[in-house]
Amino acid sequence: MAEVTFDYGNLVEVEGGLRSEELDEARPRLREAVNGFLQDPPGFMRLPKSSEYAEASARVAEEIRSSGATDFVHVGIGGSGLGPMALQKALNHPYYNALPVESRRGPRIHFAENTDPNTLSAILDVADPTSTWVNVVTKSGSTAETMANFLVIRGWLVDSLGAFGYQGRTVATTDPEEGFLKEISDRDDLTVLPIPRDVGGRFSVLTPVGLLPAAVTGLDVEALLAGAAQCVDEVNERREEHPAAVGAVMHYLMDTARGRNVRVMMTYADALERLAAWFVQLWAESLGKDGKGSTPHGAVGTTDQHSQVQLFMEGPQDKVIEIVEVENHPRDLPMPEAYEDLEGVGYLGGHTMAELLNVECDATRKALTEAGRPNSTIKLGAVSEENLGYLFQALEVQTAIAGSLYGVNAFDQPGVEAGKQITYSRMGRPGY
Ligand code: PA5
Repeated sequence: MAEVTFDYGNLVEVEGGLRSEELDEARPRLREAVNGFLQDPPGFMRLPKSSEYAEASARVAEEIRSSGATDFVHVGIGGSGLGPMALQKALNHPYYNALPVESRRGPRIHFAENTDPNTLSAILDVADPTSTWVNVVTKSGSTAETMANFLVIRGWLVDSLGAFGYQGRTVATTDPEEGFLKEISDRDDLTVLPIPRDVGGRFSVLTPVGLLPAAVTGLDVEALLAGAAQCVDEVNERREEHPAAVGAVMHYLMDTARGRNVRVMMTYADALERLAAWFVQLWAESLGKDGKGSTPHGAVGTTDQHSQVQLFMEGPQDKVIEIVEVENHPRDLPMPEAYEDLEGVGYLGGHTMAELLNVECDATRKALTEAGRPNSTIKLGAVSEENLGYLFQALEVQTAIAGSLYGVNAFDQPGVEAGKQITYSRMGRPGY
């Protein structure tokens, strides 16, 4: 069973927090939004119980691992990159690529996301072209950044292995029916993994977009889906009482009724830093429309206590801080007793690093609350596949329901089109 809890008490109990009458007043709208959501659930709601994507990803992952691959390059941006990165950062060793091969459950993994040539050059510096696999991930099949990275890597593979070798080492994760990447995979006879048509990029972490890299590096895909499936069941059962739905209305009201239009996700574990980046995209691209939406922002505790917490405590009253706390960290280190005569140091001896991290998390929450700064907490029993699966799903549900409350379409992104059109025209794409 996934262990994920949500505590919104400090959005109500703090000075200036939401009043229970406001929540009661919003309840019919929330009920309507949840009813609409459950009557015609978006594609991402069926993913946790569709074994086909996990099975297809496991098959390809096995082929990659058994080929003796040393490197796996995941090429994708936005929803085609952030989820997989969040999973790797959360669940694999922080220095996974530097571990000796016998301590890893798969090849080294690299992410080619931006079109910064310095990053791609660096990947090509360390990857072995004779044993690298490439996974090109683009639902539309023509995202300029992804195709640019792909073209360079393709050239690098062809130079080293010839056209036949490149074909045998390339996976295309894309719309199975149309798009230029589909066309390329037909022409070049590439292995294809599908991104279902009814699942948008930022909601696609539980499709082959996230599942293939997870399986390649030995993460427990079944547990990830089981956690997400538990969330689906609980949302169906508890409907507007489910914390994902309650969070949607609370954040919506904090923004629209209280002017708190910055939503900070502060994760108290380095491993969850990319989870916040994934969430930032999910919330921003889904809701930032028609002059509406709150601005998501990521922070890491304790690091950002020494960077941003001053602003959170005493800056403008425009923020809601969402703490993501981890009860049991995967590893811990005791702090040895030393310098007992120095009062500013000696007190640490005998405690552990995880204890300090969690005490600081609690201290920040208390300080924010006492200062009248609304905050909420998502608590994970541990950073595990099951808990992350639950959390991904719950945050997607929350975002979709928030879309209904705001009255925007959470599943499109018209605002990113204009820049794309200008880029295409400046780079000479026919027809632009
Ligand atoms: O959420 C989205 O739909 C976007 O962020 C896309 O994932 C991103 O633009 C990349 O698109 P594509 O997968 O088509 O390359």
